[in-house]
Amino acid sequence: MIPAAAQKTYIKSPHHREILATLRSMTLKEKVGQMTQLNLDVVSVGEIYQLKEPHAIDTAKLIEALHNRKVGSILNCGGHAYSLAHWRSIQSTIHLISRQAPGTYIPLLYGIDAIHGANYLHEGLLFPQPLAQAASFDPSLVRRVAMATAYQTAASGIPWNFSPVLDVARHPLWSRFFETYGEDPYLVSELGAACISGYQGQDPSRPTQVAATMKHFLGYGMPHSGKDRTPTYIHPRQLREWILPPFMAGIRAGALSVMVNSGELNGIPVHADPEILTDLLRKEMGFQGLVVSDWEDIEKLVSVHRVAETYKEATRMAVMAGVDMAMVPNDYRFTDALMALAESGEVPMKRIDEAVYRILHVKHSLGLFKRQLPEPMSQFTLMQTDTFHKLHMESARSSWILLKNRNRVLPLSKGSALVLAGQALDEPFCWNGAWTRTWQGIDPKWDTINAGISLIEALQEHFQLVRTIPAPQSSGAGSMVNANTPSNQSQTAVVQAPLVVVLGEKPSTEKPGDIQQLSLSADEVAWIRGLCAAHLGPKILILVQNRPRIISSIDTLFDAILLSNQPGAAGTRSLSDLLHGGFSPSGRLPYTYPAHEHSLITYDHKHTERLHTDFSMNAFQPAYPFGHGLGYSSIRYESLELLKPLPAMESDSLRVRVRLRNEGSFTQKETIMVFVGDSVASITPPVKRLRAFKPVEIKAGTSLAVDLSIPFSSLGFVGRDLRQTLEPGWFSVQVGPLMEQWQWKP
Ligand code: GLC
Repeated sequence: MIPAAAQKTYIKSPHHREILATLRSMTLKEKVGQMTQLNLDVVSVGEIYQLKEPHAIDTAKLIEALHNRKVGSILNCGGHAYSLAHWRSIQSTIHLISRQAPGTYIPLLYGIDAIHGANYLHEGLLFPQPLAQAASFDPSLVRRVAMATAYQTAASGIPWNFSPVLDVARHPLWSRFFETYGEDPYLVSELGAACISGYQGQDPSRPTQVAATMKHFLGYGMPHSGKDRTPTYIHPRQLREWILPPFMAGIRAGALSVMVNSGELNGIPVHADPEILTDLLRKEMGFQGLVVSDWEDIEKLVSVHRVAETYKEATRMAVMAGVDMAMVPNDYRFTDALMALAESGEVPMKRIDEAVYRILHVKHSLGLFKRQLPEPMSQFTLMQTDTFHKLHMESARSSWILLKNRNRVLPLSKGSALVLAGQALDEPFCWNGAWTRTWQGIDPKWDTINAGISLIEALQEHFQLVRTIPAPQSSGAGSMVNANTPSNQSQTAVVQAPLVVVLGEKPSTEKPGDIQQLSLSADEVAWIRGLCAAHLGPKILILVQNRPRIISSIDTLFDAILLSNQPGAAGTRSLSDLLHGGFSPSGRLPYTYPAHEHSLITYDHKHTERLHTDFSMNAFQPAYPFGHGLGYSSIRYESLELLKPLPAMESDSLRVRVRLRNEGSFTQKETIMVFVGDSVASITPPVKRLRAFKPVEIKAGTSLAVDLSIPFSSLGFVGRDLRQTLEPGWFSVQVGPLMEQWQWKP
């Protein structure tokens, strides 16, 4: 935990003097306006959610917002992505009107969701979704993708990104599983911190950086029912063991903002919980940036959570709990309510000043008082160069996980015949997912812009497609290609050719993404069984999904299974390269792939959840375990050594040396994962926990020795007193199939 020294809600900003001077000059209306965030729709021509096309700013509405209401922040994209030129025009207009406002000049802070590249920018590269990036287990890759995303977002004139999601995804049914870095707190911490450093750099005020947002604080990723924004029940100990670490890592990485979880945690909506937003986030963790609500979540304290009778009471609860800025975002109720609350003293000026202090801290940290947004295009010379395109392809390639490869049917020979069947054959939606050119990512008008080539086109670059068979429409995201492309090959050739079946999950997020089951539909299973029965050649299953759909009923029909949790616009080409052996797959599962609908247990489960032959308690039997992934080359783990001296004190490090050998003919990227176990502890110990990982490249036929170091304290756990605890006893270290044990006697 952050040292007790941070036991206060108010931490002095490096811009303290300027902030105080500004605060002293501000009216109450200006302060309340700074705490208000509006949707772009509110200042655009047309009706909210039904704007006039093509989009245009309504100057009168903008003046009302900035001059009269003193609003300090605007977000979102008016329903779909815009061109770079239009984004820059929007930002120029907003900042021009903002600078003309009477009273204290405070630059407007514009925020957007750029979660897998600058998705709301037509020219923005669509990178793999966060879960697909996590399959790389490569913080440097995640950081570089974040840098490219920041660059293209900043070129639009936007300095604030509502990303990364640091929720640890502990329920695979959840509709936002694909937006996370998976189920392990340590992996999410490492990748989340890398993403934040990519967005903000060393100095977030530089023209090509943006402010990061750690979201959604706290406990959003493990809804009890698996449905989005439904109750979460997490004991304070598990909260600190699983959920808090990524946000602590994000604070250490310097994240400038936090977005609040829309749901309720242990019966209290987080937006109304001072124990979470103030006692925990501020006093215990020492967060200094601004806290912004999620969409309409003050209103939802009345209409959904029913913990407030009126909007005014909800406003008081949220602001007093620790919300600094309200994503209202479609009206001025918050502004009116907070003015009244401040005038009546129900919200003390001290609290308002504290919130505005933090907002000004973020605006100063971004240099907004000194910069003219949008920055000149001369700052963005890389926008359309090869630099980002190479990274775009590298990240898509790294997202592919080879789950199985029976009889090494992969790779296929270049130029060979193929039969292609399934969904997502000639549409980009499943490859990019939600949060693309529109919120849900399935609009044929917008979500096809700069969205990548179709799988059919990509495969035709390296193979002969002798037949294309689209999935029946009833099976979800059906393809638009017309049925059963006639084949110019003999029936025998078609029947003998390798069969590639693509299962795409219809993109969705948030409530629209709630589903009732992870299993495939009966129609899908029947159709796939029929396909496989009609083809005698090798069978390859391709999964491009938001979350791990249960495939146990068809798994054995296939010789090979490849998975990417939405690889982005370079996804189809990277798959085509992969299938003919252009590179060897290196992705690893950042979550446990379940085999059964009601066996959704994570890898760091407890001994009571293990396979017990004596009691036949076979709770933990995943289809594919956390960290699983094959390559075209097999890697042999030759030795594991605990380097001397072994840790004597908590502050020491545990150092291990691993020797590996690449026994195949492909250069292979291998992620070495170090899991630790505690044999006996005062809190039931998990069977294992990830505490270090490192992707390394091993050339064909060569060996490698790699040293990894783990802080000994990280072998501890959150004890009965909710504090980090390390107890003497026997510990184990597991790397691949190798394990070493030793006893710590301080
Ligand atoms: C949504 C999401 C949040 C997003 C915000 C702004 O409701 O929960 O992740 O950043 O609204 O679009």
